[in-house]
Amino acid sequence: MTESLVPDLGPRPEPPNAGGRTVYVETYGCQMNVYDSQVILGRMREAGFREIDDHLEADVVLVNTCSVREHAEHRVISRVGELRRSREHAGKDPALVGICGCMAERLRDELVRQRNRIDLVVGVDHYDELPRLVGELLDPDPAPSAVAVGHDRRVHYVAPPEAYPTNHSHLVTIHKGCDYRCTYCIVPSTRGPQVEKAPDLIEREIASIVASGGREVTLLGQNVTAYRWSDELDFAALLQRVARIEGLERVRFLTGHPCDMHPHLIDVIGAEEKVCPWLHVPAQSGSDRVLRRMKRHYRRDDYLAMVARAREVIEDVTFSGDFIVGFPGETDEDFAATLSLVEEVGYDTIFSFKYSERPGVPAARLADDVPLEAKKERLAALMAAQEAAWARLAEAQVGREVTAVVEEPARRAAGSWRLRTGNNRKILVPLDEPTVGRALRVRLTGWRNTSFFGEPVATA
Ligand code: 5AD
Ligand code: SF4
Repeated sequence: MTESLVPDLGPRPEPPNAGGRTVYVETYGCQMNVYDSQVILGRMREAGFREIDDHLEADVVLVNTCSVREHAEHRVISRVGELRRSREHAGKDPALVGICGCMAERLRDELVRQRNRIDLVVGVDHYDELPRLVGELLDPDPAPSAVAVGHDRRVHYVAPPEAYPTNHSHLVTIHKGCDYRCTYCIVPSTRGPQVEKAPDLIEREIASIVASGGREVTLLGQNVTAYRWSDELDFAALLQRVARIEGLERVRFLTGHPCDMHPHLIDVIGAEEKVCPWLHVPAQSGSDRVLRRMKRHYRRDDYLAMVARAREVIEDVTFSGDFIVGFPGETDEDFAATLSLVEEVGYDTIFSFKYSERPGVPAARLADDVPLEAKKERLAALMAAQEAAWARLAEAQVGREVTAVVEEPARRAAGSWRLRTGNNRKILVPLDEPTVGRALRVRLTGWRNTSFFGEPVATA
């Protein structure tokens, strides 16, 4: 059984220098970071800080960061420079600037030495220490900087339910870290080994979300499908337990690993009504040679067999995935196999990335030999193939009636609302008096880009 400390959910002491101060948090990267930022804000709020949206007015600016590609890291460093300069131009005192998340773990005290001044570096297992560290730095006689990094298996966070952006859909991290060793990936070193949150704690967290009005949760992890608390309690069993929580209406999960999508799990997803029929299962490449060099532990045919079985067992299932183009040694033929996989699977959405060499990962020993121009061309070709495949899928949906939940006003269509189906399709629907979180029957009338258009269907 995995060891786990049940976090103290009670109020924490206010640090001496917090009273009335303000905090601004900016988030980059994956959904786990979105959840962690909710944790960070929750901790800061408990300690007497007030959250504000304007970084120019904030006493403390925290940037929650991602290390998965070099570009993401460069963006953060230049953003810190920009944040500092805009304060200067506005004639304001400098804010206390902290870096949280994966860059904090990867670069550690290197960050406090770089050109754009950073006062505080807080890694993924140290957010409980944030108020104290910030309080010390706000002291009239502060230390020059503070660095808290390194992994602690016992630390698991519970974000306060009121920290969520919409009132019916919530994120719940169920474990941290990753034990796969995909050769391109920095995550196992920035997030540490896979450690499960206790199932009782997950259930309590979701029950408290439901008690405060939440109706839908997305279970999060680098590889949620690898969750394994004990021999009896794997991800399939956890899904079943979560699906039985009274008052909860829908469960989604991100991200799945193709190796963990075994038949039993697929059966459970198909059988549990509350479990949404949407699988985000990154393939990364369609070429066996590349998959082997990435150490993904499956072949193209295994992946396709998993997709076929899911389509058989899970009604209306949809797929999304991630792809990397230009992995070391990727030939035109390898890339053609990726294109054909995308055509064969029929994803709703894919996220595709140019390979970015990360220091210290196993693939860094391979020559990054696909020229940048070729990477760009492959990325464009992959996106075009996805658009064509999606156009076929989307067109075939027009005229169907589906059930979808009201989420928020559509950004670019006045009077329309954005709804989401269980299988994660977005529909823009004109509605007079919508209730956020309510499920409606909708007829699909058309589509553009990744959204459908629809009209409400009168119900008896
Ligand atoms: N280069 C490019 N993309 C990467 N990803 C992970 N590591 C790298 C890298 N070194 C992508 C994978 C993963 C997603 C979150 O980011 O596709 O699924
Ligand atoms: Fe990275 Fe692979 Fe783990 Fe995903 S499964 S976080 S890509 S090492």
